[in-house]
Amino acid sequence: VDKRIVVTRTVPESALDVLREVGEVHVCTQDRPLTPAELREAVRGAHAVVAMLHDRIDADLVGAAGPQLQVVANVAVGYDNIDVPAVTDRGVIVTNTPGVLVDATADLTIGLLLMVTRRLGEGERLLRARQPWTFRLDFMLGTGLQGKVLGIVGLGGIGQAVARRARAFGMDVVYTGRRRAAADVESELQARFLPIEELLGTADVVSLHCPLTEQTRHLIDKPALAAMKPTAYLVNTSRGPVVDERALAEALRERRIAGAALDVFEREPEVEPELLELDNVVVVPHLGSATTETRAAMVELAARNVAAVLTGGAPLTPVRS
Ligand code: GLV
Ligand code: GLV
Repeated sequence: VDKRIVVTRTVPESALDVLREVGEVHVCTQDRPLTPAELREAVRGAHAVVAMLHDRIDADLVGAAGPQLQVVANVAVGYDNIDVPAVTDRGVIVTNTPGVLVDATADLTIGLLLMVTRRLGEGERLLRARQPWTFRLDFMLGTGLQGKVLGIVGLGGIGQAVARRARAFGMDVVYTGRRRAAADVESELQARFLPIEELLGTADVVSLHCPLTEQTRHLIDKPALAAMKPTAYLVNTSRGPVVDERALAEALRERRIAGAALDVFEREPEVEPELLELDNVVVVPHLGSATTETRAAMVELAARNVAAVLTGGAPLTPVRS
């Protein structure tokens, strides 16, 4: 019998060709995330599920799919939407898409860094509001990056790619994480490891590149924000719940830090309304990996993972619990 492959959201055609060679493909074409009930219904009888980062995949969903389910391929590097131990305990392989989105996400991070330190969103809003202005030596001044310290939380593939770009801008790099990076990575990036408290007190820009886990949820909370310099900026392209959004809004309102640039939000797609009132905040709608090339590469990698598993091979990029 043909294997049933369920894709929870519209994906680029190129990936569907890979999937159609190994099974019968069902794409959910509604223009929004499936509700939990719709997702349960959609996966019934599936051998493979190509999932998005907004799909909650847990023991219950695996049960709804049925015992024939072999693989869940997440189209994202982050997999906090998946209860990996519960899913793998039931014999289902989980895969993600590491590597292919490193450059796109690092580029976006630098874009946000420039937006917030050079007040680009504010400048754009001024012109679009048809406000009068003239060139003036002290008009809309931002902060230069040269000689400033970038503090990277999580020096994985994306963190390293951001550090490399920041070095090209003349920034110094410090980092923190669960463990030290390899010696050659540290020496290439001239990156110094610091415990998080020290990093927060040292960095002129703190940029988050860790996964969302129970250890990193609200890592940037009220005390962490208080440890940052009043002149420092926060950039988040990782996962929203790594930051306590209410505490952040309060710190920004009271100018206890200089600004924040956010690609991800605690209650996505909702954005803490107060953040939208503040001029020292840049917000974009989860665009880290949003280039045509990168999205195609992500979904193709997910498809190749599915094809490998359904044809009895080893997955290319499995997630281990
Ligand atoms: C996107 O946020 C991803 O994890 O790939
Ligand atoms: C992403 O692919 C990472 O390794 O950080």
